[in-house]
Amino acid sequence: KKIAVLVSGRGSNLQTIIDNIENGSINGKIEVVISSKRNAYALKRAANHDIEGIYIGKENYPDVDSRNDKLIEVLKKREIDLIVLAGYMSILNKRFVEIFKNKIINIHPSLIPSFCGKGYYGSRVHKAVLDYGVKLTGATVHFVDEGTDTGPVILQKTVEVDFNDTVETLSKKVLKIEHELLPLGVKLFCEDRLHVEGRKVKISMS
Ligand code: GRF
Repeated sequence: KKIAVLVSGRGSNLQTIIDNIENGSINGKIEVVISSKRNAYALKRAANHDIEGIYIGKENYPDVDSRNDKLIEVLKKREIDLIVLAGYMSILNKRFVEIFKNKIINIHPSLIPSFCGKGYYGSRVHKAVLDYGVKLTGATVHFVDEGTDTGPVILQKTVEVDFNDTVETLSKKVLKIEHELLPLGVKLFCEDRLHVEGRKVKISMS
């Protein structure tokens, strides 16, 4: 399968996908990495592995719809089968999501539907988890639909929240889970083992 990874930051989730392709676990190829931030370290990671990196963001496409049109053009030209959002912090409009329906997966650092949606991203998620005082949090891999963090859930895994946890310690624990779940979700997609039935996702054994 041809994969595109959309990023905005340091790219540690991108790195785990690259590593899992290179060790043979994922039967796919990252054709392009697209960043919404010109100097995201994720673009350096792509370059380190001879993967094409492209900046498409506010500076060169200030209008959201023209930015999405450019993204669609780039992805269609490369006949992308799977779009992975790995810490991608830019808006995908309705047209984009419809064109690539059930071909976009995202990683969110909580157990959806808790602590997600508008405003819940990055360390804000872990701060909300700590402020609420829940005993379990985790990560979710899900298909992207027109909402924010609302698409069908593919995989989830929990981590325990300890009384002395801080945003720093908790985000490290959750990131470790993200680095397990996202490559697994990509692997299952590449092996055609994900079947969406309404809101639910069935994972077939082979
Ligand atoms: C991760 O914390 C992830 O939960 C969120 O954005 C961050 C991406 O980190 N989606 P990285 O750029 O993959 O290291």
